[in-house]
Amino acid sequence: ITITIDDSSVSKGSYPTFMLKEIDEQPAVMRRISQAYLTPDDQSIIEKKLLDALTQADRLYFVAAGTSYHASLVGKRLFEKYAEIPAEVAVASEFGYHWPILSARPFFIFLSQSGETADSRQVMIEAKRRGLPTLVMTNVANSTLAREADYVLLLHAGPEIAVASTKAYTAQIAVEAVLAKSLGETRGLEIAQTFDLRRQLAIAATGMEALVSDHDAWARLAQNYLGQRTDAFYLGRGIDYDVSLEAALKLKEISYVHTEGFAAGELKHGTIALIETGVPVIVFITESETAAHTRGNVQEVRARGANVLVIASKVCQEATDQVVLPTLTTELMPLLTGVCGQLLAYFATIQRGLNVDQPRNLAKSVTVE
Ligand code: AGP
Repeated sequence: ITITIDDSSVSKGSYPTFMLKEIDEQPAVMRRISQAYLTPDDQSIIEKKLLDALTQADRLYFVAAGTSYHASLVGKRLFEKYAEIPAEVAVASEFGYHWPILSARPFFIFLSQSGETADSRQVMIEAKRRGLPTLVMTNVANSTLAREADYVLLLHAGPEIAVASTKAYTAQIAVEAVLAKSLGETRGLEIAQTFDLRRQLAIAATGMEALVSDHDAWARLAQNYLGQRTDAFYLGRGIDYDVSLEAALKLKEISYVHTEGFAAGELKHGTIALIETGVPVIVFITESETAAHTRGNVQEVRARGANVLVIASKVCQEATDQVVLPTLTTELMPLLTGVCGQLLAYFATIQRGLNVDQPRNLAKSVTVE
């Protein structure tokens, strides 16, 4: 199949599906973003007028939908840590009804792979009507949001054809990290100046290569832990909760397995009632500060018969963990855990004989409210 976008044709090449091709492209996307936005000595290449405008802001408002919303959750952590600026994150379709802007100098950041999401556009139109500054991080240079925003940062991910967003998610996180570091440096913050982002993105690219180079291992994990189940949970705390939401959406939207991404600590407040023998529970444990507590949640669900798959970072690993990842700075771990969620969803879907690139009921870009 060859798809034509802006008269540049995109083909699957030797891949069976666009989604697998786009999952495998992520190491190259990390390197492209590094080239596009970072100098060899880790200085950010961000236009001065965007940085000047951002420096005036006293609060960021991230507005997005779906996977881009999940990438915005990670963005909040990156900006609050590396630029020490408070950030709100809103689902675009929720934000439109209320405008709880409680700051004097808000700055709106829209994440949108397509740059065409109607929910996000409605908020941008209102923000501009109020004379508030708007930035869009998008994969499509001549998209509606790119044309209407005051500032644009491109994802350099290349055309993303599969309905399920993969490389755009990790690209958004990488670009958010560049901007957060850049803003933090502009504010003279040492944590930003010492943020070795170029090295972290290089480690992420290598880690991604290791993940995408062993499709059979992921097919086996999908088979062993998801099989033909119609329910599944992703659990995590902190950044691992953010990525659990994204991993759950990936699995849900292409395999139709009813999947919840859940705050691990919240399970005992009700939802653990759903855990019984054989329920698939995939747990991300990548942050030292939360690892011990999440290990406790693993024991709780195992005691109730759950079929648990643990995906840990090296710094948190235990001998029984099925997947161990290189350790990146906490807020960048979704560059690797996100890819794990993509691969599990992909192979679970293939094993169900479903159309992974074009899942039922869905469109690549939701241009209606
Ligand atoms: C993600 O896999 C879905 N395709 C969907 O949630 C998507 O992320 C959402 O519609 C937002 O799209 P956008 O990034 O193009 O604005």
